[in-house]
Amino acid sequence: MSSIQVHHAKLWFAGQNQNWKLADFEVHEMTEAFNNIRQYQSERKESEKIEIINPALDSVNAAIQQKDPALFKSGYVFLTNTCNNCHHAVDFEFNVVKIPEIPPVSNQDFKINK
Ligand code: HEC
Repeated sequence: MSSIQVHHAKLWFAGQNQNWKLADFEVHEMTEAFNNIRQYQSERKESEKIEIINPALDSVNAAIQQKDPALFKSGYVFLTNTCNNCHHAVDFEFNVVKIPEIPPVSNQDFKINK
């Protein structure tokens, strides 16, 4: 989940900067991390719930493909709400995810490289 947390934060700043290639990369890294939980931690309670994230990932993906900032924002809110919905469902409701205010790292440029 820690890697998912970082990708979730980076995804926001990529989208805010309309850096769609980076946003696309981050959403795929996140998808991969969810797939790994499903595959390697299948005995865990949350693994059977993991599919609930798919519609939200799809909607962020669609916004990225369309390079649409407004759609990106609504998709990102949907994604973040879905993170929290699962935390509630698996009794980890004290892990509350939100839209980040500052970039998760200072050694990465989220703007488009020209
Ligand atoms: C399928 C259920 C599920 C989904 C979906 C889910 N989580 Fe989690 N999350 C968990 C569980 C269970 C834990 C506690 C156990 C753990 O850390 O593995 C957790 C823990 C966390 C933590 C706390 C980690 C720590 O060590 O402090 C963060 C942050 C987090 N999730 C972020 C996210 C984000 C961001 C998303 C959405 C992009 C998300 N989660 C989606 C189930 C889920």
